[in-house]
Amino acid sequence: MVERVQPGDAIHPGKPVTVDRYGVGARINHWITAASLILLGISGLALFDPSLFFLTALFGGGQNTRALHPWIGVVLFLSFFIFFFQLWRANLPAKVDWVWLSKFRDIIGGHEENLPELGKYNAGQKFIFWSMTFLILVLIASGIVIWEQYFAEYITIPVRRIAVLAHSIAAVLIICIFILHVYAAIWTRGTLRAMTRGSVTGGWAWRHHRKWLRELAGQRKIGPAE
Ligand code: HEM
Repeated sequence: MVERVQPGDAIHPGKPVTVDRYGVGARINHWITAASLILLGISGLALFDPSLFFLTALFGGGQNTRALHPWIGVVLFLSFFIFFFQLWRANLPAKVDWVWLSKFRDIIGGHEENLPELGKYNAGQKFIFWSMTFLILVLIASGIVIWEQYFAEYITIPVRRIAVLAHSIAAVLIICIFILHVYAAIWTRGTLRAMTRGSVTGGWAWRHHRKWLRELAGQRKIGPAE
């Protein structure tokens, strides 16, 4: 069975009812990942095209940007995968995801009453999760191949050319996925507090992830009143 309820999730009675969604550790993990992706995007774009070279000023010039960019990539890789192992089960595809996706008009139109009840994540969130996972793997693997300071002598020039292309394509795609993720987090009202305060309101959980809420209630995951 797909695991939807995670260890720290719990309902707190009160006005309004709140539901824990991310613990402190997961949130710190998320924001380190977010900050490193933003820094990677800026420093990567600075190295990508001469018209964006001025962005290297933010990192102390061209040489420093070139030296720092791969290390920030290592931070992103490590922090994302620590986060990944906490979340992957809840992001496994389920049959209901296809039903939810087939009702695209109702999703866009905000007719949630026509949508099936969902666990902790919807198909859009799962898509973003697995896309990030795949693209970060491509970025780290191709990044190591083109990290000349340490690996130049082990890699041939034709292989490095392919890696540069793969690295650039994956970077453009992850920037698109990032924009989609931030847009969805802001567009779905009440979502941002899940990653700032760690909890959502009972109403938000009822509206968007009712199966998750029902399962928490069913398993008596009830914390103190807030
Ligand atoms: C400023 C940028 C960002 C904002 C405002 C933001 C916001 C959020 C919010 C509000 C959630 C909770 C959604 C929910 O539980 O329903 C979330 C979850 C998540 N975020 Fe971000 N995020 C940002 C950047 C990133 C970046 C750069 C990454 C990865 C490279 C990332 C990866 C994730 C993942 C994996 C989840 C868990 C969702 C899942 O497992 O399906 N986020 N984010």
